[in-house]
Amino acid sequence: MPSPLLTVEALHVSYGRVDAVRDVSFEVPEGGLVALIGANGAGKSSVLGAVSGLVRPRSGAVRLDGEDITRRPVHRRVADGLVLVPEGRQILGSLTVAENLRLGAHRRRRQAAPEADMYRLFPVLDERRALPASALSGGEQQMLAIARAMIARPRVVLLDEPSMGLSPKMVDEVFTVIEKIRAQGVTVVLVEQNARRALRVADTGHVLETGALAHSGPASELLQHPKVVEAYLGIE
Ligand SMILES: Nc1ncnc2c1ncn2[C@@H]1O[C@H](COP(=O)(O)OP(=O)(O)O)[C@@H](O)[C@H]1O
Ligand SMILES: [Mg+2]
Repeated sequence: MPSPLLTVEALHVSYGRVDAVRDVSFEVPEGGLVALIGANGAGKSSVLGAVSGLVRPRSGAVRLDGEDITRRPVHRRVADGLVLVPEGRQILGSLTVAENLRLGAHRRRRQAAPEADMYRLFPVLDERRALPASALSGGEQQMLAIARAMIARPRVVLLDEPSMGLSPKMVDEVFTVIEKIRAQGVTVVLVEQNARRALRVADTGHVLETGALAHSGPASELLQHPKVVEAYLGIE
């Protein structure tokens, strides 16, 4: 067995006296797509925060390619190919689409992809390159946030609720893009409230309940798991 590209080991995250993440462990193989699902407040963003370096865990470890990166600053993780697309997009609205992309590329300089590659992957951005990002729809802004991560040619992309607040048509487009990203061999950790959609594209799923892993397994099995169906999938 090849060693996993990303490993999360016995992770604990606390904010003051709030334990947001308790003893969470999982592995992501190179090229894999792992979904992390759970209710609002379950600790999903805190896990991604610890993996991306935005949040300092109380204990536990994060490894990339077997190397302990738990204390590595965010910019070095980006340079190592680990990139977060944060919840709520956080693109720069007053800058143009092209300028936002260039900022994403600047984070990895020589390793970055040509802008033209991003316009091919995200045609909707091509038509809007000269517009301020604030003029884009919510779905288009999400595409820009993903493109800004992808231009850094990451090895691992962490997506935090990419479909949140989008119209059904844009949700479809976001999931199409996620499949394209994985088809390029990029490893993906996908956090979603849309559990069914997430498990349908993932190989493996993990269910977080109040900071701890409640269920883990092949995504196809979680889609059938009675407790997961009852709590997170419901009727279609
Ligand atoms: N910066 C913070 N300060 C204090 N508590 C926080 C902070 N961020 C998250 N929390 C708390 O940690 C828990 C997990 O939050 P979060 O990781 O954002 O969950 P999720 O992404 O699953 O909605 C929640 O109880 C939340 O209120
Ligand atoms: Mg969250």
